[in-house]
Amino acid sequence: MTLGALASSYTAASAAPGSATSADTAQIARGAYLAKAADCAGCHTAAPRVVRPGTAPIPAAPFAGGLGMASPFGTINSSNITPDPQAGIGLYSYDDFAHALRDGVARGGKRLYPAMPYPSFAKIDDDDMHALYAYFMHGVRPVATPAPPTRLPFPFNQRWALMFWDWAFVPGERFKPEAGRDAQWNRGAYLVQSLGHCGACHTPRGPAYEERGYTEASPLYLTGGTNDHWFAPNLTADTGSGLGRSSAEDIAAFLKHGHGGGLVTFGSMVQVVEDSTQYLDDADLAAIATYLKSLPPRAQSGHFNAGSRGALQSVEALKTGELERPGAGIYATYCARCHQSDGAGVPQKYPRLAGNPAVLAPQTTSLVRLLVEGGGSPNTDGGPEPRKMPAFADKLTDSELAHVLTFIRNTWGNAAEPVTTRDVSAVRHALHK
Ligand code: HEC
Ligand code: HEC
Ligand code: HEC
Repeated sequence: MTLGALASSYTAASAAPGSATSADTAQIARGAYLAKAADCAGCHTAAPRVVRPGTAPIPAAPFAGGLGMASPFGTINSSNITPDPQAGIGLYSYDDFAHALRDGVARGGKRLYPAMPYPSFAKIDDDDMHALYAYFMHGVRPVATPAPPTRLPFPFNQRWALMFWDWAFVPGERFKPEAGRDAQWNRGAYLVQSLGHCGACHTPRGPAYEERGYTEASPLYLTGGTNDHWFAPNLTADTGSGLGRSSAEDIAAFLKHGHGGGLVTFGSMVQVVEDSTQYLDDADLAAIATYLKSLPPRAQSGHFNAGSRGALQSVEALKTGELERPGAGIYATYCARCHQSDGAGVPQKYPRLAGNPAVLAPQTTSLVRLLVEGGGSPNTDGGPEPRKMPAFADKLTDSELAHVLTFIRNTWGNAAEPVTTRDVSAVRHALHK
C-alpha cells in the first residue's frame, strides 16, 4: 500500500470507528512510539492536580494541553492535541498537522510560539509524520476540555510577527542523511535533531531566543543552554563538562533509566527520561549515543584529573576531618552521607560528584537550583528505585551554598570556576526561594 492510500484509509477509519486494518494498527503503534521519542505528552499534558491536601494528585488527561511553559516572554500554555473536533485537533487534515509540526502554523493560520519545537520537527520525514498523524487521529482519546489560552503582554501577543522570526531563524528543512556516515550514525542524528529536539535545551540561544544551530555543522550546536533556570550541559566530546569521558554505553543507560556511568539525571532532564527516552528501543538509544559520541569537542570548560595529588589530599582531608577549605565542613555535614567522602556516590542510588560533567559545567544555574529546591531521580520501568535529594533552601545561606558548590567543583580532581554568593543570590531571587 502506498502512503497516499494509507492516508486515505485513515479518513475511512475515522468515518467508521473500529474499521482500522492491521496495516493501520501497525502504523498507529509506530506513531505512538514516535510520539514518545518526540515527547509530545511531556509538553501537552498538564501537571497532576492536588484536589485536597494529603490526597494523591490526580493525573491530567494525556495530550489535553494546559501545561504552562516558562519563556522569557511569559507563560505559554500548550494546546489540546487530542482528536476532539472542537477543543483539540480533530479537524486537522494530514496537511494541517504536518504544517503545524514543521512550520509552526496551526490550522486556520495561527502562528505558534517556538515553545513548540517546530524548528526541530521540520526535519521529521514523511513516513514518520504520517504515522504520528495516524496515532493522533486514531490512537489518542479525545478530550473535550479546551486548553486555557495563552496571554502574553504586547508585543509578544502579536503572533503574526513570528513570521519574521521564522524567516530569520528557522531553516525548515527535512533531515538529510550524511553520505559519508553509516546508517546507525544517521539514525542517531535524525532522532536527536528532529523528534528528540535535544537542541531545544542543549543548544545555547541567541538574543531573539533562537537556537544557535540545528545540526553539528554549527559550532555551537549542543554545546549547552539554559532554559527555565536549568542548564542543559555540553553534549560534545569536551572532557571537562561534556561527554568526552562518558562511553556510548553510559549515555544509552543514562537515557534508558536516568543512571549511567555514575551520573543520575536531574532537573528538566528527569522528565525527558521519564516521558520519552526510557521508551526508546536499544537500537535507537545506541544510535543516539553513537551520534553524540561523534561530535568533536567544543566549548571546552572544566577539568577532571582523578589521580592528581590534590585529588588524593582532598579525599584524605574529608576522611580525617582536617577541613580547612570553606565548604568542606558543609560537605561533610550535609552531603557526604549520600555522595560519600571520596565523591564517588553509590551506584544506582546517589550520583558521583567526582568527575561529574554537570558539576563542572560553566553555567552553575542548575547546581544552585538543585541545591535550593532539592530533586528526585527518575522513576522508569525496570530502573533503579527513585531517590530524593533534599532541599537546602532553609538550611544553608547563599554564601554557604556558594562555598559548598565551589568545594565540590574543586575537589577529588575536579577543577572549575568558583561559584560566588552573587551567583547563588541571583538564581534564588529568580526562583523566589
Ligand atoms: C517542548 C514542548 C512541546 C513539545 C515537545 C511538543 N509541543 Fe506541540 N505545542 C507546544 C506548545 C507550547 C504549543 C502552543 C504554542 C502556541 O500557543 O503558540 C504547541 C502547539 C501544538 C499544536 C498546535 C495546536 C493548535 O491548534 O493550537 C500542535 C498540532 C502540536 N503542538 C502538536 C505536537 C505534537 C504532535 C508533538 C509531538 C510530535 C508536539 N506538539 C510536541 C509545545 C510542545
Ligand atoms: C527540557 C530540556 C531538555 C531536553 C529536551 C533534553 N535535555 Fe538532556 N539535559 C537537560 C538538563 C537540564 C540536563 C542536566 C541535568 C542532568 O545531567 O540530568 C541534561 C543532561 C543530559 C545528559 C547528561 C550530560 C552530562 O554530561 O551529565 C545527556 C547525555 C543528555 N541530557 C542527553 C539528551 C538527549 C540525547 C536529548 C534529546 C533526546 C536531551 N538530552 C534532551 C535538559 C534537556
Ligand atoms: C539523601 C541523600 C542526598 C544528600 C544528603 C545530598 N544529595 Fe545530592 N543528590 C542526591 C540524589 C538522589 C541526586 C539525584 C537527584 C535527581 O535526580 O534529581 C543528587 C544529585 C546531586 C547533584 C547532581 C549530580 C548528578 O549527576 O545528578 C549534585 C551536584 C549534588 N547532588 C550535590 C549535593 C550537595 C552539594 C549536597 C550537600 C549540600 C547534597 N548533594 C546532598 C542525594 C543526596
